Amino acid sequence: MATPQSTTADIALNQPASVRMFEKLGIDYCCGESKPLAEACREHSLNVKSVMAELDNAGKEIRGKDPNWAAEPLEFICKHIVETHHAYILAEMPRLSSLARKLVLRHSEAHLELGKIQELIESLAVELLLHLHKEEMVLFPFITNMERNIANRGLRSLDGFGAVRNPIRVTMDEHDTIGAKMTEIRTLSHNFAPPEDACPTWHNFYRALAEFDSELNRHLHLENDVLFPRAIEMDESWG
Ligand SMILES: [Fe+2]
Ligand SMILES: [Fe+2]
Repeated sequence: MATPQSTTADIALNQPASVRMFEKLGIDYCCGESKPLAEACREHSLNVKSVMAELDNAGKEIRGKDPNWAAEPLEFICKHIVETHHAYILAEMPRLSSLARKLVLRHSEAHLELGKIQELIESLAVELLLHLHKEEMVLFPFITNMERNIANRGLRSLDGFGAVRNPIRVTMDEHDTIGAKMTEIRTLSHNFAPPEDACPTWHNFYRALAEFDSELNRHLHLENDVLFPRAIEMDESWG
């Protein structure tokens, strides 16, 4: 149960239903932006008691449907990330690129921000593809093998990297770079708000970008705040 002192990252971890609510209220819960709920509510001029009551209700609606990420095997979490979050990026990135290209052709002379957004999307696509590939081919198998070795023989994995903390640090640095690019896109697009005279493609593009941003936040939260800390703890507690 959340208290005013619980951090937004802890609440997001323990009450998955809170994530959509935080997004709706504009409260950060990930990537170093987590803070005590009371402080976050103060910053957004929200009543902490009403937010806690809403959190409790949101939890009741879906309790029992979402996995408890703090208890699921790491292998299951890795598989879930690949099948849902990575699959979403692979399907959505080409669509975003093509919408951006279309808009740049039509409107970039009067709206220079569209060209900048398109460049950021192209560079994000290259970076994300490489990032997902490394997680799927290197880091997630490393974590899964470590967990299996510990379960089967009580031994920690000795393949490759030494401590799992090392590849995780590199991966989290990449998350920061990816997050910084999304922040730039958010700023250039005025928080995904199209201008008054925008065409339907533009509306569609910003709606898709907003969804992508929110999906990416959930994805990075599951890796940064659930999977990686649990993998490091598992590794280090077995020496
Ligand atoms: Fe990932
Ligand atoms: Fe990642």
